[in-house]
Amino acid sequence: MSATDTQPFEAPTPEGVPVLEAKRLVKTFGRVVGLDGVSLKVFPGEVLAIIGDNGAGKSTLIKCLTGAYIPDEGQLLLDGAPVQFRGPQDARSAGIETVYQNLAVSPALDVASNLYLGRERRKPGIMGSLFRALDTKGMRADARAEVQRLGISTLQDVTVPVENLSGGQRQAVAVARAAAFGSKVVILDEPTAALGVRESNQVLELIQRLREQRVPVIVISHNMPHVFQVADRIHVQRLGKKAATITPDSHSMTDAVAIMTGAATV
Ligand SMILES: Nc1ncnc2c1ncn2[C@@H]1O[C@H](COP(=O)(O)OP(=O)(O)OP(=O)(O)O)[C@@H](O)[C@H]1O
Ligand SMILES: [Mg+2]
Repeated sequence: MSATDTQPFEAPTPEGVPVLEAKRLVKTFGRVVGLDGVSLKVFPGEVLAIIGDNGAGKSTLIKCLTGAYIPDEGQLLLDGAPVQFRGPQDARSAGIETVYQNLAVSPALDVASNLYLGRERRKPGIMGSLFRALDTKGMRADARAEVQRLGISTLQDVTVPVENLSGGQRQAVAVARAAAFGSKVVILDEPTAALGVRESNQVLELIQRLREQRVPVIVISHNMPHVFQVADRIHVQRLGKKAATITPDSHSMTDAVAIMTGAATV
């Protein structure tokens, strides 16, 4: 039997309705096919990893899930109902929070302000409505509670400017922001790239915590040990297509790399 006759391996999914589902997404850039009919599902309390070589379409896929790109074809469903995001704000309003590959935190602002960036709260009453005064105290208190809830132990002080934080702590702020507001799905593109062992572990713990809170996480990573540590299922992307969906139980890291590079078909 030739490789084209074999169905790609598709690990079983949990029962029920996926929180987020993509059906046969297509996204082209001129003559470059970024995504060629890619489907994906993520269920409550599940960590779905997306792996694949450079240029395999991982970032394009998540951008199509988050309104950053509008797919040429295909469908998105949130809790089983079709949705169309015209931009990232639509996806955020729907409860999908994303930390993009080139992560954006504002270095000059403190941790609390970064958490509330773009969602600043005004003071109650006339001070807020008329004078547009920010509810700094309230936001800091909530930021503190959020940081505690997420167990980011190294972020002791939410009034510290982010530029004074280490790379890992900055990443933690970005992930915390996504975790704080991602009521439906949290999407992380390479959250542990360029982080040290300790800092990476903090981000991985945060992912575990989100899973415990039943918030599905989609995480792109090139780091196979991290992927195999946190993922329930692993979507393998290759040359714009889904090559397989495997699990840490069904396949080894060596298998995963073989599927990624095309050395194996399942
Ligand atoms: N805005 C764009 N304009 C033109 N081509 C693009 C654009 N975005 C992505 N592509 C192309 O689509 C393909 C998939 O790119 P994508 O960024 O999704 O890869 P990736 O899997 O995230 O890679 P990496 O591991 O390097 O981050 C590549 O060939 C890329 O050059
Ligand atoms: Mg990418």
